[in-house]
Amino acid sequence: MSGDQTMRAAQVREFGTWANVSIGEAPKLAPGAGEALIEVHAAPLNFVDLIVVAGKYQFLPKLPFTPGKGPAGVVREVGEGVTNVKPGDRVLAMAEIGGYAEYCVAPAAHCYPLPDTLSFVDAGAMSLVFDTSWFALRERARIAPGETVLVLGASGGVGEAAVQLAKAMGAKVLAGVSRPETHAAARAAGADEIIDLSRENINDSLRDQVFAVTGKRGADIVIDPLGGDYFDAALRALAWRGRLVVIGFAAGRIPSVKANYLLVKNIEVSGLQISDYRKRRPEQVAECYREIFDFYAAGKIRPPRVTTLPLGEASTGLRMIEERKAAGRVVLLPRG
Ligand SMILES: NC(=O)c1ccc[n+]([C@@H]2O[C@H](COP(=O)([O-])OP(=O)(O)OC[C@H]3O[C@@H](n4cnc5c(N)ncnc54)[C@H](OP(=O)(O)O)[C@@H]3O)[C@@H](O)[C@H]2O)c1
Repeated sequence: MSGDQTMRAAQVREFGTWANVSIGEAPKLAPGAGEALIEVHAAPLNFVDLIVVAGKYQFLPKLPFTPGKGPAGVVREVGEGVTNVKPGDRVLAMAEIGGYAEYCVAPAAHCYPLPDTLSFVDAGAMSLVFDTSWFALRERARIAPGETVLVLGASGGVGEAAVQLAKAMGAKVLAGVSRPETHAAARAAGADEIIDLSRENINDSLRDQVFAVTGKRGADIVIDPLGGDYFDAALRALAWRGRLVVIGFAAGRIPSVKANYLLVKNIEVSGLQISDYRKRRPEQVAECYREIFDFYAAGKIRPPRVTTLPLGEASTGLRMIEERKAAGRVVLLPRG
């Protein structure tokens, strides 16, 4: 803590780009009823933070605010009525905002105790990408062992987590990536096959590649954090009764789908937005983290590669993500 009444925190005073994130003194926080005060040791930088900072996210905080979802740290105080965590507990705190700071307040119901062997940095690196992928696979796509899962954007945070989890859940995994230098990491995450998203005429070339490794069946499940032309192409690569889960639009364009195409192929397109599950089904999010941490303890998944930065480099880290220069996850160390 910088002073008795203040702490160091990243702040956004006006919506804009990564350049609008600056470091300053913010008022000291206190947990309200049902909340926990977290001493933040690791705060992941997420692609979605750029969308929040730009003022384009579905729920926007009031200005000024401190960005940062999913920090990991130690519970220091709890508010009235909190029974699931206590001071001293090591937790992953799924806050909506506030993570890029020395302290953060989160709903206690959204704080998940960490296994002793999982470091704060690794837990922070797993947050928001493993839970998102878990909900996409288990809840929206109803994954079954032996199915084939195509993960688009498999070099990204959500994509790599989806590759690891789909493998741990017993699927055959096809990793869709654009750059040759990301093939080895996708294989190391558990991909059985690489689908090259940089090929010409993606509308045909994606389906051709998927059909070539599935005996012309197609993929049972597509996990799509990219949207745009990749969504259009992946829809054509779905198997009969296939399910495509929309997670984001990192490639830029929000695509459309013709309803008759869904009918003719007996396929489903669903969407996932993890924040609502935290608000409406906290017990299912707790179940999600139990399985993720069990997979971790059993050695079936491992934390992503991480670049750590001091709190003062928050805008640099966000810029790395925007410019696609981050290899793996970027995590801030507010106490480093
Ligand atoms: N729905 C939810 O609840 C939820 C939760 C978390 C995230 N998301 C969304 O999911 C998306 C991915 O998030 P993330 O945290 O995984 O981001 P990330 O780690 O920055 O990864 C972005 C991925 O997108 C790829 N990509 C970016 N621009 C591209 C383009 N023009 N063409 C092809 N590939 C492109 C990157 O490929 P390269 O490696 O080749 O650059 C990388 O694989 C974002 O839109 C985010 O908002 C949604």
